[in-house]
Amino acid sequence: MAFSVPSVIQIPEEYRGREQTYIKHRVLNQYIQSWAQKLASVARQFGRVRIWYVDCFSGPWESGLTNHEDTSIHIGLNAIQDAAAFWKIQGYQIDLGAIFVEKDDEAYARLQAYLISRKDQFQIQIHALHGEFGSKVAEIERLIGNDPAFLFVDPTGWKGAAMKYIAPLAKKERRDVVVNVMYDHINRFKGSNLDYVRKQLTEFFETEVSADLSEEALFQLYRDQLKRVCGLKYAADLTVEDPCRDRTKFRLVLGAHHHRALELFRDVEKTVLGDETPRIRAAAKDADKFERTGQYSLLPPRLPNEDLYGNLHQEALVEVERRLPTILAVRGPQTFRTLANEFLQELHLPVRDLGTLLGKWRSSGRLTVDGMRPREKTLKDSHVILAFYEAKIVAVPPSQGNLFDALPGVGG
Ligand SMILES: C[S@@+](CC[C@H](N)C(=O)[O-])C[C@H]1O[C@@H](n2cnc3c(N)ncnc32)[C@H](O)[C@@H]1O
Repeated sequence: MAFSVPSVIQIPEEYRGREQTYIKHRVLNQYIQSWAQKLASVARQFGRVRIWYVDCFSGPWESGLTNHEDTSIHIGLNAIQDAAAFWKIQGYQIDLGAIFVEKDDEAYARLQAYLISRKDQFQIQIHALHGEFGSKVAEIERLIGNDPAFLFVDPTGWKGAAMKYIAPLAKKERRDVVVNVMYDHINRFKGSNLDYVRKQLTEFFETEVSADLSEEALFQLYRDQLKRVCGLKYAADLTVEDPCRDRTKFRLVLGAHHHRALELFRDVEKTVLGDETPRIRAAAKDADKFERTGQYSLLPPRLPNEDLYGNLHQEALVEVERRLPTILAVRGPQTFRTLANEFLQELHLPVRDLGTLLGKWRSSGRLTVDGMRPREKTLKDSHVILAFYEAKIVAVPPSQGNLFDALPGVGG
């Protein structure tokens, strides 16, 4: 059974009332599949390669299905298996590994039962570890060695997910980490005077957290710390809102060594948060209303008025225009790659949108770019941006929508 939302998205029934988990799992699925496919392409150069999915707080947790299809365990295993199948067709052998860490006795028993039940379906070296993530770091390090790995850190709150545990695993090359930072919990407790809460929060951020930090400042701090403590080059986050209330439930924070991971993260964000989430939330609000009033709307579910991703994406386009002149004035000419690495960490836009935006400015004469052929429309990594000519922004009513068209010299 599934409940539907305007135009095609079908949300499995078991996610009803926890649609934020569905969104999290959509991000996870999309990210891991492409990540595994990209990494496995290394096999084309080096022969055999083993890639790992490491689920550091695995569950199963709040799973509504006996086959646990609605868990990160199932999603992670299937995603790496799909990537290996893709490469097998091209004639390359990819070895797969997966590690699951679960502390709760009952959940661990269910994890084991699930893994045994599916043993024959996976060609994956699987390790289930019973205990706290922090106490299993050395064992995980030993198992994965120098292999590429995707680390998923999804604690129930923040307890047990100290940054010093993530660091040794994330430090090595070809490691990506995604941490679920539970903003609604942290926000409630960040001003607490309880010693054990302060200690746990300090361990989670690997620094003191001031009670008066705004949401934005808190995440800036987490991203900066993740890069610093774990020796990562890039960090970015995406926001998952409460399905029925317009406020942040949690953010998924990416830490990565390679800019392609950053690009992938922003692509996945646009697909899941931009295209799918408004429809998922519309259906969630409708179902919530039915539960409270016993009545369905006569009209089909409406998309929410507030489109968080849409707003963030538009803000990103304006920010690029605002920041670019200063960057060029202070630092001189910049390659597209340098700018993309910087913008994509903080701004919510995929690299192709950035390339298109700059390409349009270049066509209209606002941007001087070195290394671009006359017929090229989009900027690429090696293109060098030499100068940018400012123009006044014309106010355009939101109904006319698209900022690509609204910005002078960017239309068309
Ligand atoms: C939010 S749930 C994980 C959900 C799962 N990642 C998913 O998306 O389907 C967190 C899980 O971590 C377990 N857990 C809590 N503290 C832990 C710790 N320190 N080490 C390992 N597991 C822990 C909990 O028992 C729970 O099953």
